[in-house]
Amino acid sequence: LSAGAPALLAVAKRRGDRGRMDAARPEAISPTAHYTGYVWARNGLSDPQLATAKGRLLYEALRPAMLLSGALGGPTLESYLLARHRALDVLLERAISEAGVTQVLELACGLSPRGWRFARRYGSRLTYIEADLPAMAALKRRTLKRMGSLGAHHFVADVDVLRAGGPGSIPGLLGRLRAEEGLAVIVEGLVGYLETEALLGMWRTLARSMSAFGAAVYLSDLQLGGGAGQSVALFRALLSVFVGGRVALHHFHDAAEAERALREAGFTEASVVPAPALISPRQARVAAGASLAHVASARVGDRRA
Ligand SMILES: C[S@@+](CC[C@H](N)C(=O)[O-])C[C@H]1O[C@@H](n2cnc3c(N)ncnc32)[C@H](O)[C@@H]1O
Repeated sequence: LSAGAPALLAVAKRRGDRGRMDAARPEAISPTAHYTGYVWARNGLSDPQLATAKGRLLYEALRPAMLLSGALGGPTLESYLLARHRALDVLLERAISEAGVTQVLELACGLSPRGWRFARRYGSRLTYIEADLPAMAALKRRTLKRMGSLGAHHFVADVDVLRAGGPGSIPGLLGRLRAEEGLAVIVEGLVGYLETEALLGMWRTLARSMSAFGAAVYLSDLQLGGGAGQSVALFRALLSVFVGGRVALHHFHDAAEAERALREAGFTEASVVPAPALISPRQARVAAGASLAHVASARVGDRRA
């Protein structure tokens, strides 16, 4: 691992000098959606139409670093991504089957296949809204339309998660849903890019607007610091190369600190667990990267969602 890390860290530092990844440049995060879209498709989780040439290019560009890291027993971005994606699938399935969730809002959906997969599986029993910044949302809308997935129960909306209200904000979107039915809000691959204050602001906005629902659950991936040392530094380097800016990557030292922050933001219950704890050992096998992924679930309201 240490053999490949210094070069990557150097590239990341140069990129980092150009500016911190923050609310001012959210569009810089979007290329990563092409990368992850390609990863989902090449691992059989998606439809090839959701994989783009840009995603393939990024994937091939990072492949040598990944091979090196994997060969040296270090983490690979792919194993990390697959673990978090599958763990979030498990949590969402549980929310639907055990807690009466009939409405899902997926924020920062990018080119993720989850909405398409869940819409096919649950049909009219589930309303699935995918949302992203306007340019990415337009691409997703066009692609899903071509795939024949869109309709009254599956659609794509514009959102900026950093907006506190009005059209194109989280409260604006949730206002279009039925408050008397169960809700899940899911976010994957975004929170690591947000500055801590922006993340806490999004959580406060979510907790406030989700409390209008009798039962509502929030699900997201989360990176925790502490103990991972060089591995986390390498990951931050890779992600920074990606987005052309420094990546916050983790905001909390451990699960307890993250859970406390979620409660302070207004959620009544919160739990943060390692992603491999939720998926089968065969799925979690994929090298060291998987163990770096954590997932958060939090809820508001008296009823369980
Ligand atoms: C790493 S991608 C993850 C995409 C997808 N969730 C996945 O896992 O494949 C990050 C996504 O966050 C979106 N994004 C960035 N800033 C945003 C914001 N302020 N509001 C909504 N979406 C945002 C980007 O457009 C991009 O699609």
